[in-house]
Amino acid sequence: APIRPALAAATRVPFGAAIQNELMNGQTAYRQLFVDHCDLVMPMNALKFNLLRPTEATWNFAPADRVVDFAMANGKTSRGTCHVWWGATPDWVKAIESPSEAERVLIEHIERVGDRYKGKLIGWDVVNEVVANDPLYENRSLRDTYWLRTLGPRHIAIAFKAAANADPEAQLALNDYDLEFKGPHYDERRTIVLSIVRQLQDANIRIDAVGMQGHLYADKVIDVEAIDRFHRDLDALGVKLLVTELDVIDCKSPPDAQSQDKTAAALVSRFLDALFAFKRPELLVCWGLTDRYSWINEVMPRPDGMASRPLPFDRDLSPKPWFEMLQKR
Ligand code: G3I
Repeated sequence: APIRPALAAATRVPFGAAIQNELMNGQTAYRQLFVDHCDLVMPMNALKFNLLRPTEATWNFAPADRVVDFAMANGKTSRGTCHVWWGATPDWVKAIESPSEAERVLIEHIERVGDRYKGKLIGWDVVNEVVANDPLYENRSLRDTYWLRTLGPRHIAIAFKAAANADPEAQLALNDYDLEFKGPHYDERRTIVLSIVRQLQDANIRIDAVGMQGHLYADKVIDVEAIDRFHRDLDALGVKLLVTELDVIDCKSPPDAQSQDKTAAALVSRFLDALFAFKRPELLVCWGLTDRYSWINEVMPRPDGMASRPLPFDRDLSPKPWFEMLQKR
């Protein structure tokens, strides 16, 4: 189908950002950016399993409470990430060998956390990154994780069911990366997401949304048509599309700030064209707000030693071209 121009773009998409807990102290100017520009403010890490329950005997809600309370006190919404994620399964859980005990712990976790934040979070990433990283090469559709090994693919259904029990109003999402680009590898990842959604629905288990993380790369091609098709396929299933972790991994863009920003603005713009071709996404969340604080600086630094410029505000908290572009949509 031809891509229609961004007809829906005139309607504003709720805009949000995630915040790291260590930035909840001091950092007044930084926090003010969230107040000034966001509809939604969410904890980047504090609602992950390993931080909420680092040992079997310890629950640590205070850091997440701080962000959620900050959001609410400023009239913002918030959302939760994430109940099931390979990157946040605590060691004490991974030591559980019995499937029935693992299932009990998973349900207990989701029900307790979901219930605690009921009415305060608009939704949850119930499962994060369950699709195999490279399904064609690995010849598997789901990622090899503790939960898959212990409970099988049904851990996804178990998690969604528990999340729905705990918070019937929350928008329940499956969240994943590398759903934005061109190529058979990415086509396969999108196909797997759609099949997980269908399987949950066939089993009468509620799933309301799919989150595209939106970690864009300066050197990966955004597949406008495939995203548009994916959006329509989800819509046909009654499932919303969200953007949950938007930023630009620019370690391969030309080595000057102006080119980095130009590349980023063009990429984000193309991504929005793809999203808006059908209808506006429900939500657009950036993974931080300023280039000063981003996982990309640590995990994917530029090989030339120059600073990365992944986010909508620069290191001095000034808006960058891609944020200005976003506001004009
Ligand atoms: O705050 C502590 C600091 O006190 C300590 O000295 C330091 C030493 O390691 O660690 C600091 O915490 C780190 C925290 O980021 C800081 O924000 C944790 O070790 C580190 O594990 C944590 O990384 C986060 C990562 O997920 C793992 O949870 C990143 O912030 C966060 O951006 C990243 O987010 C993920 C999404 O959840 C899923 N999608 C990919 C995305 C990027 O990896």
